[in-house]
Amino acid sequence: MERIVHVPLEGRAYDVVIGPGLLQHAGQRIRPFVTRPRVAVITDETVAGLHLDALRAGLADAGIEMVSLALPAGESTKSWPQFSRAVEWLLEQKVERNDVVIALGGGVIGDLVGFAASVLRRGVRFVQIPTSLLAQVDSSVGGKTGINAPQGKNLIGAFHQPTLVLADTAVLGTLSARDFLAGYGEVVKYGMLGDADFFSWLEEKGPDLASGDMQARVEAVARSVQMKADIVVEDETELGNRALLNLGHTFCHALEAATGYSNRLMHGEGVAIGCALAFELSSRLGLCSQEDPSRVRAHLKAMGMKTDLSDIDGSLPDAETLLELMSQDKKVVDGQLRFVLARSIGEAFVTADVPQEVVLSVLQDALADRPQA
Ligand code: GLY
Repeated sequence: MERIVHVPLEGRAYDVVIGPGLLQHAGQRIRPFVTRPRVAVITDETVAGLHLDALRAGLADAGIEMVSLALPAGESTKSWPQFSRAVEWLLEQKVERNDVVIALGGGVIGDLVGFAASVLRRGVRFVQIPTSLLAQVDSSVGGKTGINAPQGKNLIGAFHQPTLVLADTAVLGTLSARDFLAGYGEVVKYGMLGDADFFSWLEEKGPDLASGDMQARVEAVARSVQMKADIVVEDETELGNRALLNLGHTFCHALEAATGYSNRLMHGEGVAIGCALAFELSSRLGLCSQEDPSRVRAHLKAMGMKTDLSDIDGSLPDAETLLELMSQDKKVVDGQLRFVLARSIGEAFVTADVPQEVVLSVLQDALADRPQA
């Protein structure tokens, strides 16, 4: 059932291995990359309780010893204080230039540990072992690493590609339904942005995926990672088409800011709502058919996902304020907001040519559909 997606970046090529039970065999996979049988693992407290023993045993099977550090779980860990704690701990553990650091966890841990690896002794290799669906299909692949600044998310960081990614699809069984569906928001995004057949496949198989069908999970993660790998190889540092991966993200970032980056809206939930709004905007601009936004929303709803602004609990600011929050997005170039829009499901493109009044009308109508407080 295992799949391998190769990311053929020149001089920094690596494999993403996808399948159930990889933690138990992590040692065999990592062994070719270590010069001495010792690795440093950074994880978070929640993941440590669930998966650290399995990783320790999997490494020990291949004669590899591990030391570990568990940081607090949650987005606030992606900050300077926890970053310096991680780097100093790695130095205390005497991690050397040829050693391998392992990131075991979701997007927060992967981003922070990847960034720590990028600066430690001017760069050491790291292995991503993503434990959330979102991290398996998005953040563990492609080399974007970093932490948040008070001025915004992911504003401090570096491109640093992993040496190996082990996406153990069995660990997805420990995710809550909400966490799983938030990650699914990123999976369905790949279909919407570049592969209409994948979107149709998800319409059919999405419920099986959610209920734990392992074959379907491996297939969905592998197809998502393959699309990401293709895009990253073409445009590693996001000068062009890598921005397609941000479908739904401009709306999402405004909604995350409006909800204070709190538990009211998880990133993947914001991506799903953002994709629905991006298709609505594309349809109003006459770029795609009116059926496309309805089909997107129908699938998200059928999966039980947050789809509309009315699915976000509590109050939201008005449309003008949301638009203002959108223009603080880091994807603004020369003061112009760039959008990922679509000509159809599976055919997205990037443009700065979007009249603000149309964006405003999409937001106004989406807000008007919310029940009055
Ligand atoms: N998550 C978007 C990217 O990796 O470019």
